[in-house]
Amino acid sequence: MPFQNLLIEDKERIRYVIINRESKLNALNKATLAELHIAITEAFSTATVGGIIITGAGPKAFVAGADISEFADLDIKEGTELAKLGHNAVFNLIENGSKPVVAAVNGFALGGGLELAMACHIRIASDNAKMGLPEVTLGLMPGYGGTQRLTQLVGKGKALEMIMTADMIPAAEALQLGLVNHVTTPDELLIKAEEILNKILSRAPLAIAAAITAVNAGLKDSVNGFETEIENFGKCFGTEDFKEGVSAFLEKRKPAFKGR
Ligand code: COA
Repeated sequence: MPFQNLLIEDKERIRYVIINRESKLNALNKATLAELHIAITEAFSTATVGGIIITGAGPKAFVAGADISEFADLDIKEGTELAKLGHNAVFNLIENGSKPVVAAVNGFALGGGLELAMACHIRIASDNAKMGLPEVTLGLMPGYGGTQRLTQLVGKGKALEMIMTADMIPAAEALQLGLVNHVTTPDELLIKAEEILNKILSRAPLAIAAAITAVNAGLKDSVNGFETEIENFGKCFGTEDFKEGVSAFLEKRKPAFKGR
């Protein structure tokens, strides 16, 4: 389906989802969030797609936040609805996805932009990237999962410092804090993202999906992560991929996983 605010490109089993509002530094307006929901859902349900790389169009920004021009007239009810819809339709959808999603952070990742990157399973940043949650400068606070996911990634003290000061941090500091997994030059950003994703795609897809679910379960109050791990570990034994993985090891060859 054609999108107004996204570019979609396939490179073998990798689906690129590129946020394409360069003149607005790829800010997430409602239309872009709706398209992201469709694009991500479609990628998860397309058998030929193994994983997703999300990045921003142009050299300057990944995503410079939610689109501030759409906030001006919102009231309490509408603000609550905006956050709830975003959480469910995009950010939780990505985090709970059955396929790996890598954020290639190619510049500013602010507010909803950093929240989008944090919902992804892995973050690679170019060395010119700057990250932060500046919502309090607008009289707001993070509303797309930022208070929770930043705290999970960098710890409470640093998360509160970043949220309360609204300071942007450079990629090198984000790496030191564990907010991003790797930092590269801008030219090498997508190469590194593809390298990591292709390695993941050479592993057993159902085992990857089960591991994502188990890791996420540990961060939810309503479920016990250890129980989820036991259950998902057991389920792996019922897959064809498990038999293929063990046979390949014993036969000293590379496994050919089918995701079954
Ligand atoms: N929402 C809507 N529009 C945005 C935007 C956002 N979050 N971020 C940038 N833009 C728009 C600017 O309004 C400008 O549009 P215009 O050319 O029509 O005036 C365009 O993108 C370029 O941004 P500009 O501010 O001129 O670039 P800059 O290099 O001077 O500054 C930033 C870059 C990222 C520091 C600055 O754009 C910024 O602070 N953006 C808002 C970040 C933010 O608070 N995000 C959280 C939102 S909750």
